[in-house]
Amino acid sequence: MCYNLAVPTIVLGVTGSVAAYRAADVARELMRSGHVVRVVMTRAATRLVSPDLFAALTGNPVVVDVFDEPVPGQIAHIRLAQEADLVLIAPATAHTIARLALGLADDMLTTLALATRAPILIAPAMNPAMWAHPAVQAHVRTLQARGVEFIDPTYGVMACGDEGWGKLADTPTIVQAVQQRLARTKDLQGVRVLITAGPTYEPIDPVRFIGNRSSGKMGYAVAEAALAHGAEVVLISGPTALQPPAGTRVVRVQTAQQMHEAVLAEFDACEVFIATAAVADYRPERVLPTKRKRTQQGWTLRLVPNPDILATVAQRKGERIVVGFAAETDKALQHAQQKLRQKNLDLIAVNDVLEPGSGFEVDTNRLTLVYADGRVEPLPLMSKRECAEHLIRAVVHLLQEKRQQ
Ligand code: PMT
Repeated sequence: MCYNLAVPTIVLGVTGSVAAYRAADVARELMRSGHVVRVVMTRAATRLVSPDLFAALTGNPVVVDVFDEPVPGQIAHIRLAQEADLVLIAPATAHTIARLALGLADDMLTTLALATRAPILIAPAMNPAMWAHPAVQAHVRTLQARGVEFIDPTYGVMACGDEGWGKLADTPTIVQAVQQRLARTKDLQGVRVLITAGPTYEPIDPVRFIGNRSSGKMGYAVAEAALAHGAEVVLISGPTALQPPAGTRVVRVQTAQQMHEAVLAEFDACEVFIATAAVADYRPERVLPTKRKRTQQGWTLRLVPNPDILATVAQRKGERIVVGFAAETDKALQHAQQKLRQKNLDLIAVNDVLEPGSGFEVDTNRLTLVYADGRVEPLPLMSKRECAEHLIRAVVHLLQEKRQQ
């Protein structure tokens, strides 16, 4: 058995579609282009193609059952999940796509897909009516929202005689998608990205605070996308109920002043700063030491301004890329352009937080990217994960431009 850790390892999942035989060609081409290929088959796939074929082609044992242990004493699904630089499922049936969307772990492939941190690429193959079915498309959207990418099926005549969209993409397309996805996992390698996320809480007394509706979803999605591009991520997070993406270093804060101090402590060591947090612009001038009792009189709370964290650090950004967000309720583009100039940013992502499906709390967002050179790039309404991916790609381009200067 050969484990070559110097070249990328692709775990190739083969499922029970008639196109399963074409996975042999995909495996061979991936190996020709310099990848180690380790095949995991579903039970149904083994009825169409023998595991021996893949074992002979790849030089590695093929696993099917969760309890298969090609290396005695090593739990195969964990080892494979950790060893994978990318998991490619080609062909993927409607059934496997559904199991992945639901997070089932009832065989080796689905268990491994839950255990891995590697990017997952799926090349579906099925009857056109099945591919178009709302249930299948809903599962595809669920997986896409989690960062799984799809290599769309092509148009043609199927084995059953039906014609339409459902054929497995051709081998060069699949291999190219693998190579492009792998390249992306490295384009921020060695780059430290500092991200703020979530709200800040400004205490009034020991039980009350001034806060806002930020859930942290947008910032955590940006952290996840930066990690997927190979960055080292430091996430300075206000209070949220979210689980930080595995692999991030998290600094937890409550108030704007604490966030400011944490950013100042981390800023010099970062190459990219992305301010996603909804920082309170004001805080109570005085924090009461004990709970204020209820009375029949009104109560005037005096607020004082918090530091503008983003504007402060961007003044001394040097060669760093500094990205802000703008939460707007009117004249969004105009206000974002002003913030970009006033805060000395390279890029600002503006969202209209009054628009349904956009801004605070929801899982989707509509961002417009506004660049320092005047370019404006409106993005459609999409999952925060997809917005984050677009933003990180924009950052990669800005970094590349800066390095070429
Ligand atoms: O967390 P979610 O529920 O997913 O919601 C996402 C979001 C709506 C919070 C996010 O998409 C967003 O718009 N974040 C920026 C919120 C904000 O504070 O916008 P602003 O226009 O008030 O501030 C402009 C920029 O200055 C922001 O990058 C902000 O982080 C930064 N800022 C603001 C005030 C301050 N005192 N210090 C700062 O650094």
